[in-house]
Amino acid sequence: MAFDFQKFKSSLFKERYREYNGYSVGNNNSAMTDEAFFILRDFVYNNCGIYINESKKHLIESRINYRLKINKINSFDEYSSFLVKNENRKELNELIDSITINETYFFRGIEQFEALTKVIIPEIISNKKESNKTVRIWSAACSTGEEAYSIAITINENLRTEYPEVNFQILASDINKSVLETAKRAEYLEYSVRNTPEEYIRRYFVIKDNLYCLKNDIKKMVKFSNINLYDTEQVKMVSGCDIIFCCNVLIYFDAVSRKKVIMDLFDIMNNHGYLIVGQSESLHGINKDFKLVHFPKVMVYKKEI
Ligand SMILES: C[S@@+](CC[C@H](N)C(=O)[O-])C[C@H]1O[C@@H](n2cnc3c(N)ncnc32)[C@H](O)[C@@H]1O
Repeated sequence: MAFDFQKFKSSLFKERYREYNGYSVGNNNSAMTDEAFFILRDFVYNNCGIYINESKKHLIESRINYRLKINKINSFDEYSSFLVKNENRKELNELIDSITINETYFFRGIEQFEALTKVIIPEIISNKKESNKTVRIWSAACSTGEEAYSIAITINENLRTEYPEVNFQILASDINKSVLETAKRAEYLEYSVRNTPEEYIRRYFVIKDNLYCLKNDIKKMVKFSNINLYDTEQVKMVSGCDIIFCCNVLIYFDAVSRKKVIMDLFDIMNNHGYLIVGQSESLHGINKDFKLVHFPKVMVYKKEI
């Protein structure tokens, strides 16, 4: 049953929703108290930088409800103790998996991929020493992998022949472990390839049982890892990046955590490297160290020190 959050505001609907989720109506234990909400919110924020606005309380409640059932816990207060008092990292991971939104698709920012192949990568290669022709690209919040595989396809299509001596390394990571499992499988519904040029679909996918299965030569160009962008130590492990895609993830963070994440990315990036954010995102008010660079229909950021 699709869940309509507008209707959720009506108390009648609230009761029905609670019944639908296995609560008995009128059972006060089942409501998430403000106290439990703030404890959970702060724990998630302190560990992941993800800021949950109070207006999202009901949405979070519905998502966490499932975690209560799995853990055989009767109330949100009990769940908050189970999670926070015990610093329960395993449950934190499960919670993050259930509250993050992972919408993505192949060639989401098509103009970004044009800029990548026509200007950004050729410029980065020309700045490299003869002895080190490795280009390191990081898709830093890759969700189910479409962004990273789009980078791989773009390179294969446009740059492989021209730069046979270059070693392209693509790392893709996410905080959510279950999306990474989907990414590694690389089997997608038609919805994910809706923006993909027809000839790429023919060349790089095999269609089986209505699934678009990516061929192995592209799959093996991408390595996956579980990285929390809010954790400076984890980010530091990814040193020497030439290009970072950090797209459509800044919305999760508040102003303070955005600044921290972008500063950490700046620090681990090679000089003359590029940072690419989502097409509706910008670093305005977040960071002044990156230099803004304009391409047709797309803005990217460059490290120049
Ligand atoms: C909307 S998806 C973006 C996917 C892809 N980059 C794109 O633009 O199509 C946002 C992803 O950010 C991930 N995410 C949220 N907070 C994160 C964090 N602190 N560290 C790493 N990934 C995070 C979510 O799990 C989710 O998969």
